[in-house]
Amino acid sequence: MKVTVVGAGNVGATCADVLAYREIVNEVVLLDIREGFAEGKALDVWQKAPIDQYDTRTVGSTNDYSKTAGSDVVVITSGLPRKPGMSRDDLIGTNAGIVKSVTENVVKHSPNCIIIVVSNPLDVMTYQAHLVSKFPRTRIMGMAGILDTARYRAFLAEALNVSPKDIQAMLLGGHGDTMVPLPRYTTVSGIPVTELIDEAKLNAIIERTKVGGGELVKLMGTSAWYAPGSAAAQMVESIVKDQRRILPVCIQLKGEYGIDNCYLGVPAVLGKNGVEKIIELDLNQQEKALLETSRKHVKEVMDVLDKIGG
Ligand code: NAI
Ligand code: 2OP
Repeated sequence: MKVTVVGAGNVGATCADVLAYREIVNEVVLLDIREGFAEGKALDVWQKAPIDQYDTRTVGSTNDYSKTAGSDVVVITSGLPRKPGMSRDDLIGTNAGIVKSVTENVVKHSPNCIIIVVSNPLDVMTYQAHLVSKFPRTRIMGMAGILDTARYRAFLAEALNVSPKDIQAMLLGGHGDTMVPLPRYTTVSGIPVTELIDEAKLNAIIERTKVGGGELVKLMGTSAWYAPGSAAAQMVESIVKDQRRILPVCIQLKGEYGIDNCYLGVPAVLGKNGVEKIIELDLNQQEKALLETSRKHVKEVMDVLDKIGG
């Protein structure tokens, strides 16, 4: 299996590294517009192989898409990350153009691939890549929910003083402050989380999760990469190994959850054909209202993209 990662910056290089050292695929092509940058990162990951004991080939490319030809999965991470004080939505002007040109090249060289978008604003960049690629929605998706639930699970593990491995959770909605973590679908080794933590503490964790990306931007001056890179690699793994994992994935909704033509995170089965199935949860009134707020927000940013010409 061959996977291309576009953008050899913090998230892209981390994703390529995880794909390589965990031997998720045979070949990883890392592509960037900066002269020599992707070649350097790919060479560094390849030189780590004898130490960490893997044999995934890593190849770099400066904007030469012929090297990406015939990729099974393409992860798009190219684009500006946010700086302190910026929202993800502030990136739309620059990143929409980058995602457009990248998607055009990806489709030309790998017409049958599955695309995973990471660039922000995530939900709307997934929309952009869908508009440009004209792929069926099952082959074009965004990564955000795995990262957002991972933050939520990590905060819970810390508060409960238990292993993060044992926290299971689901989350809906857009990748932003309107995301909808779901306490009713959160368990700790099968025990409902509400039996282990009081409501005030749980609510504080939910609020921290919603601004979890911003917390890291404040600390580092740029956005996160270890968890985002691993999250994208987890989606690749479920697809290339046909694992059929149920993961939160951003996809165009066409009537699911009573929502039409909006790109939002929902639980989905990921397998060799991409999104094999969208799972519709039986939401209560409060959860439905939160999802609607998130939908409205994402739709507003989709409208901005439509206005600037897609
Ligand atoms: P970065 O600045 O470290 O890397 C971005 C790379 O994209 C740079 O190396 C740049 O040269 C490259 N690039 C720019 N235009 C390009 C083009 N036309 N073709 C190929 N490469 C191009 O940024 P970082 O931290 O890796 O973040 C990348 C994107 O991912 C940002 O938009 C960020 O907001 C987003 N992100 C999304 C997350 C999510 O959960 N969906 C999580 C973390 C970051
Ligand atoms: C994050 O949540 C910036 O979207 C990125 O870390």
